[in-house]
Amino acid sequence: MATQKNHPNSYEARDSASIVHPLTNLKTHLETGGVIIKEGDGIWVTDIDGKKYIEGMSGLWCLSLGYGQQRLVNAATEQMQQLPYYHLTNHKSHTPAIELAEKLLQIAPVPMSKIWFSNSGSEGNDSAARIAWYYWHSMKQPKRRKMISHLRAYHGNTIAAASLSGMHYNHASFGLPLDGFLHITPPHYYRFALENESEDDFTSRLASELETLINSEGADTIAAFFTEPIMGSGGVIVPPDSYYGKIQTILKKYDILLVADEVITAFGRTGNMFGTTTMNLQPDMIVCAKGLSSAYLPISALMINERVFAAIAEQSDEIGVFGLTFTYSGHPVSARVASETLRIYEEDKIVEHVQALEPFFLGSLKALLSHPLVGEVRGRGLLAGVELVADKDSKKAFDANQQVGKYCVERAEFHGLILRAIGDTISFCPPLIITESEVVLLMARFKQALDDTLEMVQN
Ligand SMILES: Cc1ncc(COP(=O)(O)O)c(C=O)c1O
Repeated sequence: MATQKNHPNSYEARDSASIVHPLTNLKTHLETGGVIIKEGDGIWVTDIDGKKYIEGMSGLWCLSLGYGQQRLVNAATEQMQQLPYYHLTNHKSHTPAIELAEKLLQIAPVPMSKIWFSNSGSEGNDSAARIAWYYWHSMKQPKRRKMISHLRAYHGNTIAAASLSGMHYNHASFGLPLDGFLHITPPHYYRFALENESEDDFTSRLASELETLINSEGADTIAAFFTEPIMGSGGVIVPPDSYYGKIQTILKKYDILLVADEVITAFGRTGNMFGTTTMNLQPDMIVCAKGLSSAYLPISALMINERVFAAIAEQSDEIGVFGLTFTYSGHPVSARVASETLRIYEEDKIVEHVQALEPFFLGSLKALLSHPLVGEVRGRGLLAGVELVADKDSKKAFDANQQVGKYCVERAEFHGLILRAIGDTISFCPPLIITESEVVLLMARFKQALDDTLEMVQN
């Protein structure tokens, strides 16, 4: 077993070498090991050496209510005792899933008809793609197989979800994306606008790129368009206000289904209960996960509108059953925890809290625009990205080999703050329960990391 430099004497640290760690350089990890987290409290986590960090990313954009939510522990415990497992196949059902589905339909941001449960955001998106195909079979247009999404999108890592994703590292050496998964320019004005192009011209150009693609592929071959209302893992990209109006006009014109991937943006993150509301979308399906249970247990929910449900119901009647199934769909313990999570969002007025804190949170980050490294600050609610650049006037990026973003988050970690680098964009997604004084502390630690990074690039 490889010795790990960070924690040479720790049994637990040595043990981490037995894991294949996702989104990690596997070879480097054998040498360096990693930070091993032991416990959490509120927005804080503590590692096995007793060092405390602010969890500035809510884990993987998911732990919305932070650690120590006793109500969620109680809900899980009670459900474990009463009915730890049942399934939803062959006309069976159970109360935790029914209650959660009814609640989700009640709070849906646009009229929705039914909920399909699975266990992760990836399965939710995979299911949405499968359901789109099934829908078009039912509509007697089985040639509609192709999916369109954005370059830099992240929709998950099952084979269809990874194909929908527009990340090089999800595709390279895996032989992905699958055929028929097409990607268009992400709506990131700062990075992708042409010189002197107005925001309006930029979104018109992107809309026309979409329409050209649809026409060149044949509209009768396109099943659905997937989008994150605000793109998370691609670098927290907030589309310009005029973007989705133009995109949705084209999707309607060619009768293409719209799927909103709200795996990060749902449940208050962007200052509304749903990112669909923040960005004014009219999706046919919405994928929710992560904050649905505040990450206390795995669960995802796909909202399906009546147009889609009516068609897939017909098709299942023709075939005999709806042949999409997971053993743990709507798992009762996860569903019960999710319902309790939704109650906490409402009772603790989490959306209102995010709205109240947003100006201070984003304002504190925007104040860093005066820092020599900060090219752009973007975000909504308590979701933000800070892009570091080599030259602010020309927006020139650093050479990727310099790994400036990576260095910055390493320094943040040194100062007791966990963030994530997406290239040279530093992302922020703190637990929604964070207070103003905790934001002050977070910003102070980030500023130290930025200054350390400036020192590094100047030497
Ligand atoms: C927008 C989005 N969609 C889908 C996923 C995949 O979710 P999961 O990791 O639960 O499969 C993620 C995960 O980060 C995500 O950010």
